[in-house]
Amino acid sequence: MSSWGHRHVIDLATFSCDDLAKVLELAQRFRAMPFSGVRKLPALQGRFMTSLFFEPSTRTRSSFELAARRLSADVQSFSPSSSSLSKGESLLDTARTYVAMGADVLVVRHRCAGVPQLLAEELDRSGERVAVLNAGDGLHSHPSQGLLDLFTLARHFSAEAPTPEVLRGRRIVIVGDVLHSRVARSNLWALTACGAEVVLCGPPTLLPEAFASFVEAPPPGQAGDPVPQRGRVTLERDLDTALEGADAVMTLRLQKERMREHLLTSLEAYHRAYGLSHQRLKRCGKPVPVLHPGPVNRGVEMASALLDDPSVCLVEEQVRNGIPVRMALLYLLAAEAAAAPGLTAA
Ligand code: NCD
Repeated sequence: MSSWGHRHVIDLATFSCDDLAKVLELAQRFRAMPFSGVRKLPALQGRFMTSLFFEPSTRTRSSFELAARRLSADVQSFSPSSSSLSKGESLLDTARTYVAMGADVLVVRHRCAGVPQLLAEELDRSGERVAVLNAGDGLHSHPSQGLLDLFTLARHFSAEAPTPEVLRGRRIVIVGDVLHSRVARSNLWALTACGAEVVLCGPPTLLPEAFASFVEAPPPGQAGDPVPQRGRVTLERDLDTALEGADAVMTLRLQKERMREHLLTSLEAYHRAYGLSHQRLKRCGKPVPVLHPGPVNRGVEMASALLDDPSVCLVEEQVRNGIPVRMALLYLLAAEAAAAPGLTAA
């Protein structure tokens, strides 16, 4: 296994084009496994992944657990409601408990931005060799979702060779609740690293002007941008205009649980202005795929008929691709740990 330089996966702002290429290449290989009759690889035998989900999840958690099992790792799941957190144990102490049991990777989801980063720093400081993989933190970042979206798009444009290059110059529209979406933020880093032109679309309450410069500087605390030249990001308030010439459209869930005040007049009005349908997609001028990270509010982000049309809507394909992408991340983190001085390979 060759190492790739990331001891943890927290945010795609730190990913170079080569890093993205490695994930896509491995994911493509892992994706072919069931077709070649292989159900499980022994690559991570003896390794141990713990999923620490402090926020609900359907897809991400099961996908990580399945990915780990396909690589023969042991898997343990933590449930906040039945844990000692309810007795006042701190988050870090909970994490340390699993590390003491031998966890090699902690997959962490939390409603507060920065929690996976904090755990990674604290565990590094105490010399632990465990890797932290962010499975979504507040509004900040959701790297594995950003990568599976990238893989799904790259495969759409080139099923045999889904490399970052196939995204170069493509017009990708991201529409909806960008403000509350960690998925949109991760996609912005990943897509612009590949040279895609991203058009963000939504009402000012859900898409502040500042997003136009989102990828212009690395996030606070990050020394530099690993990508020499990123694709452009533009804002367009009108969906019909945004769709003109689009190569793909990604729509985002209205994150009602994160809205502290009423940011919309009504769901009907939102659907009229920003909802996708077969009819509306004609504005693109050619057939284009539609992505959504799920869970979907049927009839809000997109018409039910569109959601149920797999020839256009790639939601299920995204879910399928989540497994090989997460296998790739777990594999690369294990390779990195094995390459660390003084440690032995699993
Ligand atoms: C996303 C999340 O949790 O950020 N879902 C997911 O992981 N597939 C998006 C969402 O909740 O809308």
